[in-house]
Amino acid sequence: MQGPWIAVHITSGSYTDTPTWHAWIQEVSEEEIKVWLREQKSIIDFSFAGVKKPKDTLPLRAAANARIASAFGLTNSLTTSTPSVHRLFFRKVALHINRPDRSWKALFQIATATLTAELRRDTGWPLRIAEAARITSLSVVLYDNFDIAEPIPRDILRKITDEINDQWIVTKYSDSPPQSPRMLNLHLADCNLSHRFTNRTITDPDESGEILSIIMPQYETLWRVVLATYLLAFHIYPSPTLAARISSVPACLGSNSGEEKEALKLAKEGLRLTPSNKRIYRHTPGPLPTQIKADLELMHRHPSIWGPTALEFNPSRFDNLTPLQQEAYLPFSSRPHRCPAFSGFGDRMVTCLVVAMGRVLDTAPEKGRIHPINEQSDGPQQLPKTIDTGREGMESWLYIQSGREYKEWEERQEARRNYKLPWMKRKENSETGSRQVVMGRRRRVISGKRSDGMDSVIAAQWRIGGGSIE
Ligand code: HEM
Repeated sequence: MQGPWIAVHITSGSYTDTPTWHAWIQEVSEEEIKVWLREQKSIIDFSFAGVKKPKDTLPLRAAANARIASAFGLTNSLTTSTPSVHRLFFRKVALHINRPDRSWKALFQIATATLTAELRRDTGWPLRIAEAARITSLSVVLYDNFDIAEPIPRDILRKITDEINDQWIVTKYSDSPPQSPRMLNLHLADCNLSHRFTNRTITDPDESGEILSIIMPQYETLWRVVLATYLLAFHIYPSPTLAARISSVPACLGSNSGEEKEALKLAKEGLRLTPSNKRIYRHTPGPLPTQIKADLELMHRHPSIWGPTALEFNPSRFDNLTPLQQEAYLPFSSRPHRCPAFSGFGDRMVTCLVVAMGRVLDTAPEKGRIHPINEQSDGPQQLPKTIDTGREGMESWLYIQSGREYKEWEERQEARRNYKLPWMKRKENSETGSRQVVMGRRRRVISGKRSDGMDSVIAAQWRIGGGSIE
């Protein structure tokens, strides 16, 4: 059985198809774009269904998030249909976000220490930058949320991030009911995490869903945008103004100063070009519910809204957004269920982590280079101007430090053509039995023109068998 066409990610490549909406993207009138934007926003704010009270809105969102909720055992604002559960969780998160004793310097230090240790590991391989971003983001999220006395061993962090990634992919790709992530729950229970507010330490794997309910809305939204923003800011669109923009990080974080505002534009532009939630899903009300989605990624990239440089990374565009751009920019969604991290916390977290990556990886004398490796290539590729922000694409980026030897890796250059990325090879899990990730086979893309006249892909869609991915 063939699966549906679904939008997956933005990537570089050539234009290979002419769907009608390609023409629409290129030639839409101002009035049409406003109508389209209103439609997208009506999905996000539930006005498409004529509802706004939590008792009516929550079920429409919970139904759309049901598979992920059951795959990870989540009970939080994003997965519940019950207003009291939503309210309690939201209050806890708001308290956490406004914690008076947060030290951004300490979080920055945890991020740089984690990355430095990643860089120094002698594995015979270049640094897999997606794995490093995941481990660093998870360390910071855990330290910010839990009272952690002993540093969590790297091996446990890696297992947790791998298990989350695998579980996410399997849930998205397969039609069968998601299995409980037993290994993930065991690893989380091993961390002896004690929540800052409840002071309750969770050591029972059956209660790990409570930890995941807290960390997933943070960790999963952070690591990919952090990685993408780092690649865009430091490697793909390095700007002469970057050093000055970030010079006061981490000291400026939380200060609401002019310096901080400049630094946070890095996160704002990263969240524009690579929003953590590319699409926002709702179910329609009534006896025959259907899943519908707002295309946040396209709202953030549409050339009729963002101009000819829509696909380029340029934090300075946030010096002065037009009213239409302000309306289209919704990385944290909008009322009635806007993310509680919308008013600075999310931007600060992204900036803290991105700058930590830049400081550790790109200011050392032995500064490295980033290379995408893909299944078709024999070796390192040149940096493309746009990046594949899908889970699969993110795995292909390697950080190659100058002056370092990568014996094992170099020896395998010959066999590169047959090389499968390590995370794609991980097919079986000792607890749940075999599980294979089958990636998309056919892709169609919708391209646009960058300001330098080059073709650049705006959206790509994969035809996949019996499931959907995003
Ligand atoms: C870059 C960082 C983040 C991004 C881009 C982001 C994005 C979002 C989005 C798009 C939604 C709304 C989904 C919808 O409309 O259905 C949301 C909701 C939510 N987010 Fe975030 N988020 C981020 C960080 C965080 C953090 C750090 C926390 C917790 C400390 C958090 C907690 C929540 C919660 C509790 C909700 C549900 C709000 C509600 O139902 O009223 N998020 N987030």
